[in-house]
Amino acid sequence: MNDRVLVFDTTLRDGEQSPGVHLTMPEKLEIGHMLVAMGVDIIEAGFPISSPGDFEAVETLSKHLLGVTICGLTRAREKDIDAAGEALKPAQRPRIHTGLGVSENHLRYKLKMTEDEALETGVRAVKHARKYTDDIEYFMEDSGRAKKDYVYRVVEKVIAAGATTINVPDTTGYTYPEEYRQLIHDIRSNVINSDKAVFSCHCHNDLGMATANTLGGILGGARQVEVTINGIGERAGNTALEEVVMALNTRKDYFGIETSVKTELLLAASKMVSKLTGMMVQRNKAVVGANAYAHSSGIHQDGVLKERSTYEIIDPRLVGAEKSEIILTARSGRHGLRHRLAELGFNFTEERFEAIYEQFLAMADHKKEVNDEDLRVLVS
Ligand code: KIV
Ligand code: ZN
Repeated sequence: MNDRVLVFDTTLRDGEQSPGVHLTMPEKLEIGHMLVAMGVDIIEAGFPISSPGDFEAVETLSKHLLGVTICGLTRAREKDIDAAGEALKPAQRPRIHTGLGVSENHLRYKLKMTEDEALETGVRAVKHARKYTDDIEYFMEDSGRAKKDYVYRVVEKVIAAGATTINVPDTTGYTYPEEYRQLIHDIRSNVINSDKAVFSCHCHNDLGMATANTLGGILGGARQVEVTINGIGERAGNTALEEVVMALNTRKDYFGIETSVKTELLLAASKMVSKLTGMMVQRNKAVVGANAYAHSSGIHQDGVLKERSTYEIIDPRLVGAEKSEIILTARSGRHGLRHRLAELGFNFTEERFEAIYEQFLAMADHKKEVNDEDLRVLVS
């Protein structure tokens, strides 16, 4: 039996922090329903103290979304925690996500606290949050740049105070996959009570490493991943849900880890979030980009038409796409053209086909893509 990793979706919190994104309440609920249908384990619905809109989002999703944990973010302050506790009241399974920075940078410049002051503040926050729920996640902001000995001390004390999940955010996207794997591994092996909590990866994509770092964290022993649909989020974004889920699915042989996400809904979720947030998905985006299952060069088309897995490691139907696509361009070969013509119901003698192929190449040299209408004109 494979191990399971919990999927914590933060599209509605960290994702909504993307510059230029604002979701209305009905839009948040629509995304929330999609996340439940997909089978994610935890939905971070907002940061209740930050605005009336975020409070309403956490409260409304708590009321309407059943069978899933609803999480509200807080700083390590009583009034934040009280707001989250209030907003989460209707939830079947409420989680409070509290914490504060652990790196020297955050302690000195942002929090203006000593290590001990920050540690005591965090412990007090956990104890206060436990008045509302037993499900407490503690985040150690900027763990990726923090001193490990201090991180170990924080983890031990907040677990002792009642935290059940420990979030190890690489807030600035600074670490490398092997470094992040080691960080999770070291925390788990150097903290005496680490077996009392689930460790969570929360990676940002500033160096394009968020997915790789998250997978590294899993190899280090983390059993929760914090992700967003299409990887939206602050600056260069968060780890993309669809990338982690499909990496674990495609490489079961390597990771031996499962998620509860229904992969067939990945493309629909990606399109929904893109439409509602106005954040376009780049064509070559892994897993859900428009080109992810499209083949345009003759060599690749020939290979895929003979056997799909020659150039595709994911069956597009697994993510809800109809099928692989053959895009006809000046780099396409005879096999691709013949295949598309046959799909359109045209079959020709060798001689006639050669003549059409010559005309196709001449047309393709002037167009980015030769579409079905162009082909009909050619053969007529
Ligand atoms: O990136 C980060 O550190 C965060 C925390 C607030 C969890 O988003
Ligand atoms: Zn974040």
